Amino acid sequence: MLIAGNWKMFKGPSETRAFADAFEPPDGVDAVLCPPYPSLAAAVEGGLATYAQSVHWAPEGAFTGEVSAPMLLELGVQGAIVGHSERRQFFGETDETVARRSIAALEAGLGVIACVGESQEEREAGDTEVILRLQVESIRDAVGAHERLVIAYEPVWAIGTGKTATPDRAQAAHAFIKTLLDVPVLYGGSVKPENADELLSQADVDGALVGGASLEVESFTAICQSAARIRS
Ligand code: 13P
Repeated sequence: MLIAGNWKMFKGPSETRAFADAFEPPDGVDAVLCPPYPSLAAAVEGGLATYAQSVHWAPEGAFTGEVSAPMLLELGVQGAIVGHSERRQFFGETDETVARRSIAALEAGLGVIACVGESQEEREAGDTEVILRLQVESIRDAVGAHERLVIAYEPVWAIGTGKTATPDRAQAAHAFIKTLLDVPVLYGGSVKPENADELLSQADVDGALVGGASLEVESFTAICQSAARIRS
């Protein structure tokens, strides 16, 4: 089971080193941390399995503010998140750019956590499956069921809000996603130690992408321990 911590724009190199010194992933879980770019080297040097929070599709070029897959690989980074809803919402990420980033990262040898999920309005309008289909099919058409690809289902209304999808709703969305693309599906959106057991016990929930609760060693470790218990 994969438990990934997305630190978003939190933790510089010294806080990253402190986390790496204190964190011991339990056996039987793949624990990955996704720090901001300036902290990637500290995470790798601290022995953490490390993913970036995005990656560009070109190996190099005039793309101010972006980083490439070969640069990440040179640092010892193992993969990247692509298409997080915060990138879609605030930085103009589209299904097309998500697909391009995914292809380049996988071809270069990185793992990819590609994020999908509906907004509150889309859910209320009954459009959840339509939106998921568009997002997942665009990734599928670009890269297929690649062995280093996982999808993260993160309903936008559950991110950083304290609201989680009920385990039943998460399960239904994950099962639907797998009818479109047969890869592991992580759940993300207010995952905490208190709800991790129930969410991770669902048949088609293959791990978690954790935001806020990944910033503290104790809470991230507790979520990893849930995954280890459920897996065994
Ligand atoms: P929270 O766990 O803080 O809701 O964030 C979820 C998320 O966006 C992980 O990528």
